[in-house]
Amino acid sequence: MSIDNTLFLELVEAAIQSPSGHNTQPWKFALTADGNMKVMPDYTRTLPATDPSNRELLISVGCATESISIYAASKGFSVHEQPENDAVIISFTESNKATDKKLSEAISTRQTNRNSYNGTKISHEAIGLLKAKGIMFYENGTHEFAIINEHIETANNIQMNDERFKQELKQYMRYCENDARKSGDGLSYDTLGVPSIPVFMRKSATALSLNASMQNRFNSKKIAGSSHFIVITGEDTVSGYIDTGRRLMRLLLKAETLGIACAYMNQPCELSTVRNMLKTALSIDGVPQIILRMGYSSRTPRSHRRPTTSFIE
Ligand SMILES: Cc1cc2nc3c(=O)[nH]c(=O)nc-3n(C[C@H](O)[C@H](O)[C@H](O)COP(=O)(O)O)c2cc1C
Repeated sequence: MSIDNTLFLELVEAAIQSPSGHNTQPWKFALTADGNMKVMPDYTRTLPATDPSNRELLISVGCATESISIYAASKGFSVHEQPENDAVIISFTESNKATDKKLSEAISTRQTNRNSYNGTKISHEAIGLLKAKGIMFYENGTHEFAIINEHIETANNIQMNDERFKQELKQYMRYCENDARKSGDGLSYDTLGVPSIPVFMRKSATALSLNASMQNRFNSKKIAGSSHFIVITGEDTVSGYIDTGRRLMRLLLKAETLGIACAYMNQPCELSTVRNMLKTALSIDGVPQIILRMGYSSRTPRSHRRPTTSFIE
């Protein structure tokens, strides 16, 4: 069946709530002549220093694709996704059963929560609900958890000595809420899980804190209160990245329905040498694409999005 413009706009609205590296929102959407939906990468929104091969950009496109599928399922459509180079064509069939309702509701509340977590462990039952293909859970206190922690520190040391990386990060920092709202993208200061300080001090405080020793100190506090690290593996191909994004999105939404907070500790995946070292150290088959920490915490303010119409082609 072909979808109408009203449903198309609802689906775009759901898709753009998805996570993306530095909140770049690197996706575009089109309603095709035959009434399908096309999800495309937006290569004007790349991060050359952080993500030179557009790996994370395509994972973000996968996240948006999964949000569309989940939202459509909750409205009673079954969906079929067909890759077309680095885009995805989604076709819809009316079904008499709405599914994924809880996950769909979580689309508008999910957030990346960079606060410190409170040390509460996620139950085995909840882990059982979150488990899926290519998603590994490592509990705080285990040898593997310590290995991941070491690799985060190693990668952080490299990134914090890379001026291009730091410059790119600063470019996406939004120090005051007004600027964040106006740009509709980037990393609002209020979502960083750092103590609130007056706006006029934020830029210089951030510049001073962007060094290996301070970032490692912040990270270790945040990691200490986390219950688990999660490693998502996937293939190093365009379709592998999109598939990784889809599994990531579903995991994040499931966690949201269970009241579990998630944040990225992705540094080792962003540097191919460290990523290979981690793969070997953990003795895993797949290639690590995403690392999350999970646990329990109070919520942070939500991040902003650009206007829905700016994503439509
Ligand atoms: C592929 C990918 C990589 C990401 N990497 C990081 C990261 O290294 N550090 C981080 O704090 N957040 C990371 N994020 C989270 C984004 O910054 C976040 O999704 C964005 O700011 C929007 O906020 P939201 O998730 O709360 O909607 C990543 C997200 C994606 C999809």
